[in-house]
Amino acid sequence: MNTKIIQFLENANDLQQELEFLAENFNDKIVFSTSFGIEDQVISHAVFSQNLDAIEVFTLDTGRFFAETYAVWDKTLLQYNKPIKAYYPNTQKVESHVNENGINAFYNSIELRKECCYIRKVEPLGRALNGAKVWITGLRTEQSENRNSLKKIEWDEEKQLYKYNPLINWTTAEVTNFLKKFGVPYNTLHDENFVSIGCAPCTRALKPGENFRDGRWWWEDKSKKECGLHR
Ligand code: ADX
Ligand code: SF4
Repeated sequence: MNTKIIQFLENANDLQQELEFLAENFNDKIVFSTSFGIEDQVISHAVFSQNLDAIEVFTLDTGRFFAETYAVWDKTLLQYNKPIKAYYPNTQKVESHVNENGINAFYNSIELRKECCYIRKVEPLGRALNGAKVWITGLRTEQSENRNSLKKIEWDEEKQLYKYNPLINWTTAEVTNFLKKFGVPYNTLHDENFVSIGCAPCTRALKPGENFRDGRWWWEDKSKKECGLHR
């Protein structure tokens, strides 16, 4: 990515303009990963409603999503009539993991939980990012302490691509107002106090006073709660 594009994205403060500029000026492969969370729905809306077809939207279907997540996926396809590419875990790896450890082994140890995340998300992510030079995500600094040091655009040495987090400084209110303003479909679990939503067995609603990611892998120590998609 040349410095003109980097500077534009760093300094601009308008999601739709930024994505349009990127799609029009960057000639290598651009992908956007969605888990259908509220942030991702904001970005999907911006991509789809402006016909930015140069940006390939994909999801990593772990096979363990909530029914509500599949419903918002389907609604998004219907509303925008644009493709969302699905990636799936390697069948043999899932079969041997489940047959050796059980169907809900992630509750038994951090190692087994990370193995499940690796098989169902991280390995498919590698395939989804193959050939991409920009990876757009819905990460925000407000989501967790670990994400405080995030930058809007960063070079990922390991993956050899630019990671672009356009909503990095958005507040939750800004995200939800955007969804309302543009009539964007959202996961109805958010109406039941679910905040950060991942796989069904590893996500629960927040209790009063809890923080953004406390409903994810709630049985684990806070410092270990990343699945390996993001450093
Ligand atoms: S996670 O690392 O804890 O799972 P989180 O749910 O906060 O991540 O989502 C952060 C960003 O990671 C999303 O905005 C999205 O870009 C990407 N992401 C997370 N899960 C998936 C998924 N299953 N498929 C595609 N992208 C995902
Ligand atoms: Fe497996 Fe839970 Fe990770 Fe989903 S979040 S991949 S079910 S351990």
